[in-house]
Amino acid sequence: MRVIVTGASGMIGSALCDALLVRGEEVVGLTRDPARARATNPTVSWHAWNPTDERPPQAALAGVDAVVNLIGETTNQRLTPAAKQRILDSRLRSTKNLVDGLATASTPPRVMVSQSAVGYYGERGEAIIDESAPPGSGFLAELPAAWEETARGAERLDLRLAILRTGIVLDPEGGMIKQLLLPFRLGVGGPLAGGDWYMPWIHRDDEVGLIGWALGEQRAAGVLNACAPHPVTNREFSTALGRVLRRPAITPAPKIAIAALRGGELAEAVTESHRAVPRRALDLGYSFRFPVLEPALRDLFSRRQ
Ligand SMILES: NC(=O)c1ccc[n+]([C@@H]2O[C@H](COP(=O)([O-])OP(=O)(O)OC[C@H]3O[C@@H](n4cnc5c(N)ncnc54)[C@H](OP(=O)(O)O)[C@@H]3O)[C@@H](O)[C@H]2O)c1
Repeated sequence: MRVIVTGASGMIGSALCDALLVRGEEVVGLTRDPARARATNPTVSWHAWNPTDERPPQAALAGVDAVVNLIGETTNQRLTPAAKQRILDSRLRSTKNLVDGLATASTPPRVMVSQSAVGYYGERGEAIIDESAPPGSGFLAELPAAWEETARGAERLDLRLAILRTGIVLDPEGGMIKQLLLPFRLGVGGPLAGGDWYMPWIHRDDEVGLIGWALGEQRAAGVLNACAPHPVTNREFSTALGRVLRRPAITPAPKIAIAALRGGELAEAVTESHRAVPRRALDLGYSFRFPVLEPALRDLFSRRQ
């Protein structure tokens, strides 16, 4: 199978490319900087693409069987009007250009897996949320909603579209864990913003596993939550991380500390409670390698050392 991956140089994308290559797939990576991408993964077939301005090159699209759409500028930054515009453009314009390009391919792909985020649901307190829950409000809820709507444009190509509303991907080399490591290693880690909010985490192997599974599972269409079946509160997460790192997890950090670093809007959004569960993936038979948090963290940190 020939699979195009956008965002292939990123944290999730690079792990996905490795897994697809191990499976024997032909992997085409689209990137703004092929030289940099090739240096990190020479076995992917890289093509240059300026995603906000143009359609992907025809050479990349030729003979494509499947597409995984992971592109997007990080939301973990001060959400100024200019940053919001870049964050939106990197998802909406790139996805529109991708879909328009696929429409011109000699043989359009049979399946597309497009990324989204559980931020879609907004603040939900202790309520358990599956894929039927309505959208929330605020920038980090409206962003995935608009991204999903743009990806739905691919349905006109008569392909199967699976949208993964992804939780916090646990990978010690990037994302949230990398940011938490320093305070925990210094012995000043602990619950954030009171610690009562729910975190829909997912081990990177299950994130990659779900994408690979969705590519092949004919019933995987529409929206699927991509998070472990057992979300935890931030306090439970901090305690588990402290145990795994053998460091205390008792120093609370107020929301204002995140606001000082990244601004109040991001601080509000990242501490929103999403008790999301992967109801549809479980119903369709996906088997999580890491359904429970502490073994997931132990696995990630044992591999890192
Ligand atoms: N990590 C998580 O916990 C998580 C959770 C839910 C959803 N997501 C979403 O999943 C996607 C992949 O996540 P990730 O953690 O792998 O992200 P990442 O490591 O930041 O990689 C994102 C990729 O998008 C491209 N990109 C970044 N900024 C861009 C811009 N301004 N314009 C065009 N392209 C840009 C980059 O590709 P090139 O530099 O090669 O062009 C990069 O490789 C993102 O959209 C993210 O929001 C992630």
